[in-house]
Amino acid sequence: MRKLAAGNWKMNGSAAALAEVGALIAAHPAPACEMLLCPPATLIAQMAAAARSSALQVGGQDCHPKASGAHTGDVSAAMLKDAGASHVILGHSERRADHGETDALVQTKAEAALAAGLIAIVCLGETEAERDAGQTLDVIGRQLAGSVPQAATAQTLVIAYEPVWAIGTGRTPTLDQIAEVHAFLRARLTLRFGASAAQMRLLYGGSVKPSNAAEIFAVPHVDGALVGGASLKSADFGAIVAALSA
Ligand code: 13P
Repeated sequence: MRKLAAGNWKMNGSAAALAEVGALIAAHPAPACEMLLCPPATLIAQMAAAARSSALQVGGQDCHPKASGAHTGDVSAAMLKDAGASHVILGHSERRADHGETDALVQTKAEAALAAGLIAIVCLGETEAERDAGQTLDVIGRQLAGSVPQAATAQTLVIAYEPVWAIGTGRTPTLDQIAEVHAFLRARLTLRFGASAAQMRLLYGGSVKPSNAAEIFAVPHVDGALVGGASLKSADFGAIVAALSA
């Protein structure tokens, strides 16, 4: 399995920020891992053009479950694909919180992504209150069962474990806590999808930065990272790519 370094720019970046992408491509012409950036929808086409013939792949941060229609302000999976995207992040905790996205909605979005030929990166994660209450694995198990479509394969599905309390806070779980959740995810996916689950990539996300990337990537069943803030600077994201390629 090739590991995946994925960056989520969230609602950040303008055309001027594409210079960062040029620097990243130039510094990492042939990384050992896959390299993906998910900018705002407004930048996907430009970033995909800048990344053509390079190792960088480009993705979206959300899609509508339908392919087209009267849904003002929304973007479909087919449109992301048409703009040059290969992946789409779905069910990020910020969308679950800001837009009330449920597991069932995330699942229909993931089905739409697969139908459009995109790789779905489905995000899961417990809140701090849920962790403190000892509910982490219950929450993760429920989100996994409800958000992942049955048609998913190791080629079309990536899971990102992102504890809500670790996102943008500079705090990370202990390596044992990451190991526990990732082993649980692998076991649950194996129950559902059989042996092919061994090839499904499980990303860790939440305050990943150059200084902690190597130790997180050494945790069993961590197959890459979903990086927020540190993906906005090519030097920082490049250092994470290098740690994953080591
Ligand atoms: P940070 O890396 O900024 O904590 O964000 C993580 C994240 O939410 C990626 O999707």
